[in-house]
Amino acid sequence: METSSTVVETLPQVKEFVSGRHKMLIDGKLVEAASGKTFPSYNPATGEVLAEVPEGDKEDIDRAVSAARRAFEGRWRQVTPSERGQLIWKLGELIEKHADEFAQIESLDNGKPVAVARVADVPLAVDLFRYMAGWATKIEGNTIPLSVPGGGYLAYTLREPVGVAGQIIPWNFPLLMAAWKLGPALAAGCAVVLKVAEQTPLSALRLGGLIQEAGFPAGVVNIVTGFGETAGAALAAHPGVDKIAFTGSTEVGKLIVQAAAGNLKKVSLELGGKSPNVVFKDADLEVAIPGAASAIFFNHGQCCCAGSRLYVEKSVFDKVVEGVAEQGKQIKLGPGMDLSTQMGPLVSSEQLERVCGYLASGRQEGAKAVIGGQRVGERGYFVAPTVLTEVKPSMKVYQEEIFGPVVAAMPFSDAREVEAAANETIYGLAAGIWTRDISKAHSLAERLRAGTVWINCFNVFDAALPFGGYKQSGWGREMGHEVLENYTETKSVCVRIK
Ligand code: NAI
Ligand code: MG
Repeated sequence: METSSTVVETLPQVKEFVSGRHKMLIDGKLVEAASGKTFPSYNPATGEVLAEVPEGDKEDIDRAVSAARRAFEGRWRQVTPSERGQLIWKLGELIEKHADEFAQIESLDNGKPVAVARVADVPLAVDLFRYMAGWATKIEGNTIPLSVPGGGYLAYTLREPVGVAGQIIPWNFPLLMAAWKLGPALAAGCAVVLKVAEQTPLSALRLGGLIQEAGFPAGVVNIVTGFGETAGAALAAHPGVDKIAFTGSTEVGKLIVQAAAGNLKKVSLELGGKSPNVVFKDADLEVAIPGAASAIFFNHGQCCCAGSRLYVEKSVFDKVVEGVAEQGKQIKLGPGMDLSTQMGPLVSSEQLERVCGYLASGRQEGAKAVIGGQRVGERGYFVAPTVLTEVKPSMKVYQEEIFGPVVAAMPFSDAREVEAAANETIYGLAAGIWTRDISKAHSLAERLRAGTVWINCFNVFDAALPFGGYKQSGWGREMGHEVLENYTETKSVCVRIK
């Protein structure tokens, strides 16, 4: 891939930040790992080391959890809901002020196109903080009429913060996932220890500086960089953590549940998916075809809700597959910092290997790549947009989450058949439906076992709209007011008054 004049100049403050000495945020201070160890974060467009960051481990998690506990029992409690809301709002403002910087950091560390980070990841993170800022003053209990014979009672409920929340996030939307986790926890009045993904630690470390600038009391937010098996596992098992929120693979989600059993901390999980995207013959194909392409190719398919199983009604199957393939063929691959790039590299050499492994298994099991099917170039972790046909339900590429730009396209005959097929994986995160027939759309939406159903659209996110999974795609919901359930406990107070 040759470089061109559309490559954006790295901002001086980004250069300085990326090459600087990185520190984690613990107890209101920017610190190195207790062990003094660091580990590299790579630029996935080149495979070269981008930065060295602290390798936080159990000891750092212990320090962070103690700091969060002190903050929760102490200063954070004295902060009024209105002040909490203002702090969260301010954090959103600060991110917006540094939007270009965050977009570049995200692009360098994760590989995604800087232009996409600038219009999606960063503004969505800002919006999320703004939306959650509003909830800080609106978390209310109820008064409850009792029917206990012979007594006069006043009963009411209080919604209280669950306490110290441990949060573990992945690398596909590093800043945005931090926002999804921090926003509601802080609105609810929790103190937080956030363990970010080892592949993409930089934007969260930059965020740590802004959290200090916003003026959060020491220990309310702690950010630890380190590996999943060490720092992540220590956080999930920590007896001083009241609640753990995890986003990542279903496999690790199950480990989190086991680790949480020790002190029965509350658990919420946002896990993998294999989302069906259903195109009926009466759909507006001018919209459905690019829609189905972006459902899988957005963020290089590294979305938990990617529309990776494309079901197309038989009579339009060839047309839709050709259309999606044409869209895929035209996608320009390149480094994220090139403004002409439409798809960057996968995040890591491990993901490159995983996705290529799935492509090989698809080939062996008899699937046919209409486009793509292989790695692109020798440098960086690029994979060609891929459309597979002749896919059978028994194949791994049909059942398992690939997390790359790979869609399996299958024909179907009627709504009953496609409903059964759509629901047949272990996952239930999202689904898409494309049709002009509103009763068909709504009745299928009702029968799909998925936490989000998009009709005549896909990948539409809003801080107000709950997101999460049925079945093995998770527990609980992110965003909307529903996410506050994850971070609050209900206390019933009952007073005899007569
Ligand atoms: P992962 O589930 O291992 O990593 C996600 C987060 O969990 C990271 O912060 C990691 O450090 C942490 N983690 C890993 N092992 C842990 C443990 N034992 N205890 C506590 N925390 C732990 O995902 P990975 O390996 O990066 O990607 C593998 C596959 O997972 C992908 O190919 C994709 O299928 C899926 N995935 C799904 C995501 C989603 O948004 N639902 C996001 C990232 C990956
Ligand atoms: Mg990286």
